[in-house]
Amino acid sequence: MILRLDDIKKYFPVRHGFLQRKMEYVKAVDGVSLAIKRGEIFGLVGESGSGKSTLGYTVVGIHRSTAGKIIFKGEDLATRQHMDVRAISRKLQIVFQDPGSSLNPKRTIRQTLELPLKVHRLGTRRERLGKLRELLQKVELPEEYLHNYPRALSGGQRQRIAIARALAVEPEFIVLDEPTSALDVSVQGKVVRLLLSLAKEHDLTYLFITHDLSLMRNVASRVAIMYLGKLCEVAPTSEFFKNPLHPYTKMLLSSIPVVSEEEESLKPERSVPKGEIPSPVNRPSGCGFRTRCPLAMDICAQEEPRRTLVNEEHEVHCHLFNNSRIKGDYDWND
Ligand SMILES: Nc1ncnc2c1ncn2[C@@H]1O[C@H](COP(=O)(O)OP(=O)(O)OP(=O)(O)O)[C@@H](O)[C@H]1O
Ligand SMILES: [Mg+2]
Repeated sequence: MILRLDDIKKYFPVRHGFLQRKMEYVKAVDGVSLAIKRGEIFGLVGESGSGKSTLGYTVVGIHRSTAGKIIFKGEDLATRQHMDVRAISRKLQIVFQDPGSSLNPKRTIRQTLELPLKVHRLGTRRERLGKLRELLQKVELPEEYLHNYPRALSGGQRQRIAIARALAVEPEFIVLDEPTSALDVSVQGKVVRLLLSLAKEHDLTYLFITHDLSLMRNVASRVAIMYLGKLCEVAPTSEFFKNPLHPYTKMLLSSIPVVSEEEESLKPERSVPKGEIPSPVNRPSGCGFRTRCPLAMDICAQEEPRRTLVNEEHEVHCHLFNNSRIKGDYDWND
């Protein structure tokens, strides 16, 4: 196990009302527990606003968690001393969704890539230059690019630079926050293939955030589905597509485009959710999905569903399974 999240919460305070006196909290991440194995590509899927980026930012330390524990290689990140934090933070890196805004337009590629090496005091000037050349090779860009500014690069090339920047400090774990969704469809596949080969070559572990389930199917070994700051279901990717259990998972799966009749026949019956995703400031009582769930029962408004283990690797957070009321599949038309 390389990373364990133990009941992680991230609340953002927001003020509103007359003279902004009323304080409320956006519960962007509200009690997430997960364990990620070394070397795996762990997919995190959810609609916009479900808290995926907030969770990723909290893992790498951009946000400080409101509650919960982040255990990286057996060490609790919250209780480490200042100096240790610098050493550990090197091991946890992030690639953001939009390389246009994540690279500083006023810095050359060389300055951008050299900065993390300087911050972590790695190598002499000459050694650093050698390292930068090696990094560009790894992301399949010519070394002349070191003297360019980001604006001279295409979106795909910029994202390669962002990947090189994450790799510069030799991390073990990288959060990929929708790394291809801002790119042209024609280059998305190439960037994904690069990420996969880098993972193998450098023994990296990824938390791969996306809302694209078809992409997940091709890259992730396990997938977690997130809704309104909480997990709905976690399962190995193959199991996930064969035996989805949570009504929300089924809803997501039923809406992915497929290429063959065979795939179509494997999809859960199409279900259209009722209404919009509620605000994380006013989360519905009980289960957060109940206001859109076609199978909601009375208990769903009263109690939060517990985590139920369907088998060793498959967990679901839904009242339909809490008391094993229904085993296996259920009928959407009930
Ligand atoms: N710094 C912040 N201050 C206040 N609210 C925030 C902040 N960052 C995120 N939020 C809120 O937290 C919730 C989760 O946001 P987040 O960006 O994590 O979602 P996401 O799943 O990554 O969505 P997307 O798919 O659009 O990237 C949203 O309601 C968002 O408005
Ligand atoms: Mg996001």
